[in-house]
Amino acid sequence: MPQNFFILSGEQPELAKDELVSISKSYDPKTTSTGESRLVIIKSAVPWEKIAKRATFVRASGSIVSTLDDLLETRSHLSKPKTFACRVINLSSKKINKVQMEGETGAVLRERWNSKVSLLNPSVTVYLIITNNKQYLGYAENTMEQERPRKTIKYPTELDWKLARCMVNLSQLMEGRTICDPFCGTGTILLEAESMGIRSIGIDFDVKMCNIAEKNLAENGYDSKVVNSTYHDIQKIKEKIDAIVTDIPYGIASKSSLSPKRILQDFLSTIPKRMRLVIVYKKGLDVDELDKAKKYEIYRHKSLTRVIAVKDSVT
Ligand SMILES: C[S@@+](CC[C@H](N)C(=O)[O-])C[C@H]1O[C@@H](n2cnc3c(N)ncnc32)[C@H](O)[C@@H]1O
Repeated sequence: MPQNFFILSGEQPELAKDELVSISKSYDPKTTSTGESRLVIIKSAVPWEKIAKRATFVRASGSIVSTLDDLLETRSHLSKPKTFACRVINLSSKKINKVQMEGETGAVLRERWNSKVSLLNPSVTVYLIITNNKQYLGYAENTMEQERPRKTIKYPTELDWKLARCMVNLSQLMEGRTICDPFCGTGTILLEAESMGIRSIGIDFDVKMCNIAEKNLAENGYDSKVVNSTYHDIQKIKEKIDAIVTDIPYGIASKSSLSPKRILQDFLSTIPKRMRLVIVYKKGLDVDELDKAKKYEIYRHKSLTRVIAVKDSVT
């Protein structure tokens, strides 16, 4: 089974690692992972580019090879790169002379490949990843940029795109599947889903928010549907959706007299029991129905810590 490496940016490390595993599992349920520090190694049949294209918190990624000879062998089956660069990523507590190490490895590769070094735009980057326990060798072809949706109309209560994207990925769906966000607001979750080829249906009881979400979707040429109704409408579309990904209200909305906790409880009793749910809410709203969910705390500022809860089925 091929092994791929992902170097995390350092933000939300636990969430970041689980996001990678979830993306891989949406294509290959046999995915396994190991890791150390900011390095995550994914063993699966999924090409690393497919995971990296969706992942939110990754700084570098590529395939792992055992030795420099293996790398040269692999490359000779493909083609010799026009240009290349070597990068040392030191995740260990030791001090390392990166420049010297990159220079030495680069000299070996230059001789064998007869290729030029290009630090700015290499066609292949060779990585030496050093952790406290082990050294890894990896490489990556120059890859395309992640497709980011544009958001023209913003709103103070909107969710930041990184959490929205990560939550969509935690739902473990591949392209062509459908999520529903029944509290869609400006459509942040819908936009992130559709930018990754996942269909989405939004619901919001505030017509103003529905109009904003529709405009944001139209700006990107996306065709996710937005329904002006309450979350109870999820019952009507449950056959069409594969997961629920949502961000419930943090305060008492002007159109509702229910407290956020009551909304959360009523919402959980309304949705289909056997459906994957990824939900974010303000810390302190914890309810029994989410006792078994995997939870991640995200500190925003002193009066807002969010909780992301992931549940396969609501019991
Ligand atoms: C926290 S905001 C969602 C923000 C959204 N994630 C975004 O990025 O813009 C919660 C949304 O739930 C909507 N809402 C509140 N009560 C609702 C209900 N009973 N049914 C459907 N939508 C509701 C509000 O109008 C608001 O837009």
